[in-house]
Amino acid sequence: MKNAVPRITLITTGGTIAGLGELGFSTGYKAGQVGAEALLLGVPGLEGLAQVKVQSLFSIGSQNLTATHAVLLRQAILDALEDVNCDGVLVTHGTDTLEETAFFLHLTLPATGKPTMLTAAMRPASAASSDGAGNLRDALQSLKSLCHNRPKAGPSLWVLMASRLYGALEVSKRNALAPDAFHNQRHSAFLLDDHLEWISTPIEGEWTAGRFFESMETALKLWAADTESHTDNFDTLLPEIPVVVCHQDLNAQRIGRMLKPAPMGVVIAGVGHGAIPESLHGLVNTLLKAGCWIMRASRTPEGPVFVSGENPWNKQAFAGRMLAAGRLSPWQSRIALQLLLLELDQVIKS
Ligand code: SIN
Repeated sequence: MKNAVPRITLITTGGTIAGLGELGFSTGYKAGQVGAEALLLGVPGLEGLAQVKVQSLFSIGSQNLTATHAVLLRQAILDALEDVNCDGVLVTHGTDTLEETAFFLHLTLPATGKPTMLTAAMRPASAASSDGAGNLRDALQSLKSLCHNRPKAGPSLWVLMASRLYGALEVSKRNALAPDAFHNQRHSAFLLDDHLEWISTPIEGEWTAGRFFESMETALKLWAADTESHTDNFDTLLPEIPVVVCHQDLNAQRIGRMLKPAPMGVVIAGVGHGAIPESLHGLVNTLLKAGCWIMRASRTPEGPVFVSGENPWNKQAFAGRMLAAGRLSPWQSRIALQLLLLELDQVIKS
């Protein structure tokens, strides 16, 4: 990067960081009300951190984001990264589903080496203890650091919350109200004033950055060529993957009714090491026989779920379609399975 101050494209999507409500209060506000320029006004020393180009994409709470929003956001980031006058991208987002967007982008954006960062806030701009401007400043400071000292390997998609820098596989919301809602021992770096103190390189395992870039590009080209599809609506571009969360006294009949007709894939967030109650085993077999793929995850926050002897489907004919989520959360598993099935469909058709 030639410039001392990086050229950052700021893409806003809404969320609490752009929320407004009664002055001084943290709850009862409306998400996505404050424009990007107004958000930046609250950032001290902005001129020394970045030259910011603003793009307001959506103004909604992240609970309302759909596949269409995810695809449009990915495209907006791609366009920005392709611009030779852009050194990095910052996205403001709601905290509630931020980890889903981060994981989707991590898997589907190409590895350009230019950093892309997501940040958010737990308290609206109008709250007495608003954290949006601070997170925005810290994200711009971290981007500046990453632009000057690009890590030689690893991902280029990051999430900055409450001074901590997370990789897309590490990030998860763990508290519904606290400003350090994402606090988690698994973070990659800590921002201290103007520099990042690195703790570790994020572990990616098989979920490497950009793994599904080519499949997404192919799917979008086919989508655009299909005269029956709507090029501004991508809600059915990826297969629908319901998530079933297990608990005591599960009503298998009701779940069975909800899963008719059988979807292409289902995530089952089992208990503990992904154990599925016996009452559900019949339904699982029916789904597998119908050609459905199942990813076994855990409702336990850190998982993990590995293929193991406890899993009765290991030895059966449909074993190939019963996957284990590893360290992925049920929500990350949903995205992973969507993209795996998209890729598989392309392999079958080619
Ligand atoms: C949202 O996710 O859009 C609302 C909640 C938040 O940003 O903290």
